[in-house]
Amino acid sequence: MKKKVLILSGGISKERLISLDTGLQVAKELKKNGYRTKISEPDKNLKKNIKIFKPDVIFNALHGQFGEDGYIQSILERFKVPYTHSGVIASAIAMDKEVSKKIFIKHKINTPKFFVYHYDIDKFNLIKKINKELSFPVVVKPLNEGSSVNVNICNKKNLFKILNLLKNYKRVMIEEFIAGREIQVAIMGNKKLGAIELKPKRKFYDYEAKYNRNAKTEHIIPVELNKSKLDEIMSIALKAHKAIGCMGITRSDFKFHKNKFYLLEINTQPGMTKLSLVPEIAAYKGISFLKLIQWILKDASKKK
Ligand SMILES: Nc1ncnc2c1ncn2[C@@H]1O[C@H](COP(=O)(O)OP(=O)(O)O)[C@@H](O)[C@H]1O
Ligand SMILES: [Mg+2]
Repeated sequence: MKKKVLILSGGISKERLISLDTGLQVAKELKKNGYRTKISEPDKNLKKNIKIFKPDVIFNALHGQFGEDGYIQSILERFKVPYTHSGVIASAIAMDKEVSKKIFIKHKINTPKFFVYHYDIDKFNLIKKINKELSFPVVVKPLNEGSSVNVNICNKKNLFKILNLLKNYKRVMIEEFIAGREIQVAIMGNKKLGAIELKPKRKFYDYEAKYNRNAKTEHIIPVELNKSKLDEIMSIALKAHKAIGCMGITRSDFKFHKNKFYLLEINTQPGMTKLSLVPEIAAYKGISFLKLIQWILKDASKKK
């Protein structure tokens, strides 16, 4: 008998649309292959949906705040139904770019220099601090978003305009800008799955470059790196995955500049549409979209 799978998607984060897409595509693939599926929002109907549908497993297709950051995971723990991807603590740590970068540093994983700005230093001293610790340009980004939402490359001229736009976050990360190549690595169950390089035509790998086909970002697989460099970047991703205590699938985002890898972040709920990067890496390794989803479901069941 094929499993009953409740797919959680949508949610209230800025990545809601991407999550709905992931949810629909996962549901479609499972249905086509004989699974019973139900899609649910993580809202007040979730409890009722679980009670009536009685899923064997929950596929968490949420992204961003309240879906990828430990909140929904802690609610799912209470329902005692196995759920996919990382647990409460690892999700919370990975979603917080400040905390996860501190863990990377502790494990000697190279990550761009940064500090967190609390809207507390005056303009003059902020410029002084950036010049001393990072130098311009810098990257200004929220601590807990995804999909490049509100990520900005700033010079002295536009810094305060951007900081002003982001002031509702209360604190933002100001990070050293790393030029160079953009490479992402997928880990699957404590094993290195593979890597992909992205060549955006835009200024950087922003929201449009990620999701708008007209932006024509190039996907390059296999990545043009020699064997030892490829193994190095995949080993760093695996080290980060383990250091944070992640489970199942993760995707780590890197910059590669002057022969050095810089880990930007680790994602515990990477996009899972047929055209997303992890399914693309998996397909290259001979793992179909269905096989990938089945592996994720099986791995979820193992967690409990
Ligand atoms: N320090 C940096 N130097 C250069 N580019 C960066 C830096 N930080 C972010 N970027 C660009 O912004 C994109 C999104 O940043 P990332 O930290 O991965 O946040 P998100 O969680 O939104 O994906 C990266 O893939 C990269 O193109
Ligand atoms: Mg990223």
